[in-house]
Amino acid sequence: MKIIEAKYNQDFFNGVIEGENVKSYRKLYKDIAFAYNSKDENLSDDTEMYRVYSFDEGGDNTILWGLTILHPVTVSGECNLTRGHFHQDRTEPEIYFGLGGEGLLLYMDSKGECFAQKVAKGSVHYIHGEYAHRLVNTGNEDLKVGAAWRKAAGHDYEAIEKNNFPYRIYKIDGNIVIK
Ligand SMILES: [Fe+2]
Repeated sequence: MKIIEAKYNQDFFNGVIEGENVKSYRKLYKDIAFAYNSKDENLSDDTEMYRVYSFDEGGDNTILWGLTILHPVTVSGECNLTRGHFHQDRTEPEIYFGLGGEGLLLYMDSKGECFAQKVAKGSVHYIHGEYAHRLVNTGNEDLKVGAAWRKAAGHDYEAIEKNNFPYRIYKIDGNIVIK
């Protein structure tokens, strides 16, 4: 029997996903400015807001594995967030897990009902398929969140653009304020 090295590696708390198939992209402020409640003229267009790593083994029935690192930037006081999405297939769930920092995971159903769960190092979140999900960094360091989901889930961003999450999270004088 041949014994081989792991194809991927991840130093969960201090590193990122590594391996030959790993893809990553950066979201800059100019790419995602539309997702915040207002423009922040003090923020450069090229400010990196978050970074995503993932790998895809291919095939129709594959499980994807990802890592999102959301920087502790505020946009006119609003805490940094991911764009947020429903899954195209509303029966497909996802697991998120906190690897560092502090934040909130916002859940929203098709009626716009919303709740949030605290995210921190070691937290585990089962996101049922009917919920849209968005991460918000409420802390002062990078919020690092791992994820596993089936590729068949797909992403539906348009539904969020039509009916956005009803709450916005701000950091005002160091305090978290929900509006
Ligand atoms: Fe998802």
